[in-house]
Amino acid sequence: MTLSPSLRLTDGHSIPQLGLGVYKVPDATAADTVQVALEAGYRHIDTAALYDNESGVGQGIARSGLPRDEVFVTTKVWNDRHGFDETRRAFDESLGKLGLDYVDLYLIHWPAPRQDRYLATWRALEVLRAEGRARSIGVSNFHTHHLDRLLAESALAPVINQVELHPWLQQAALREYDAAHGILTEAWSPLARGRAIGNATLDRIGARHGKSAAQVVIRWHLQLGNVVIPKSVTPVRIRENFDVFDFALDEADLAAIGALDSGERTGKDPDDLD
Ligand SMILES: NC(=O)c1ccc[n+]([C@@H]2O[C@H](COP(=O)([O-])OP(=O)(O)OC[C@H]3O[C@@H](n4cnc5c(N)ncnc54)[C@H](OP(=O)(O)O)[C@@H]3O)[C@@H](O)[C@H]2O)c1
Repeated sequence: MTLSPSLRLTDGHSIPQLGLGVYKVPDATAADTVQVALEAGYRHIDTAALYDNESGVGQGIARSGLPRDEVFVTTKVWNDRHGFDETRRAFDESLGKLGLDYVDLYLIHWPAPRQDRYLATWRALEVLRAEGRARSIGVSNFHTHHLDRLLAESALAPVINQVELHPWLQQAALREYDAAHGILTEAWSPLARGRAIGNATLDRIGARHGKSAAQVVIRWHLQLGNVVIPKSVTPVRIRENFDVFDFALDEADLAAIGALDSGERTGKDPDDLD
């Protein structure tokens, strides 16, 4: 079975570069979805307390029979649980729902800057890491000015920044900042929530390689060095999205995709979400 390559995190752990996102996957069917993915070769699942499917995700992992250390599990603390004590409670709840005794990666879901509590939240993540219950810790939706502050005022740096990133929002400056600080960039909504499907440029590139637009975009993320977590509940698409390790985009393909960048978000600007 083909598995995803892994990328090294600055804390010494590794993360499978291609994983499955499960936002909007119902808890009742999440176990089936996760099982399909694990059978297809995925070894990395991205959930969050907000998604309300940590129980189903945990059941899917348990059902697979895979050793715990072969599946990389990410979850996140939601915006209403910022602060040191509250984050620790939220983490315990997530771990309980997942049925695990550690997660591989715990993220601050959004900086929620108006609450001005993400530094206290980060302290809680540092302690969870020291306890070994979160093997790695990182952030999500952090602009460079949020990262500047976190790095200046913390003992530990995040290993990952998970942000909205797709051909219409390529985040070149943020990716450069992350790389300069040893932070991996992880792409959420990597298919721009489906906008990539049916795009003429991506279809044309795909036709040359015998691949779909979705596969072209996932391949583009991999070649940029992003961690990438496309979501699907559709078994044939879950498998399709993983079938991206037998071709490579060339310079002309990369330039054509590069030209799609328009700075358009599908989600909120992190400075505006609390
Ligand atoms: N940190 C954050 O704030 C944040 C925010 C948003 C998302 N995320 C994470 O990122 C993950 C991915 O983002 P996303 O779920 O927003 O969007 P996405 O992965 O860009 O797109 C998912 C959509 O594309 C469809 N799709 C997937 N593969 C396809 C294919 N091969 N052909 C045609 N359609 C396909 C899916 O449909 P079906 O499911 O119906 O097949 C779904 O409607 C999330 O699940 C979550 O884990 C994180």
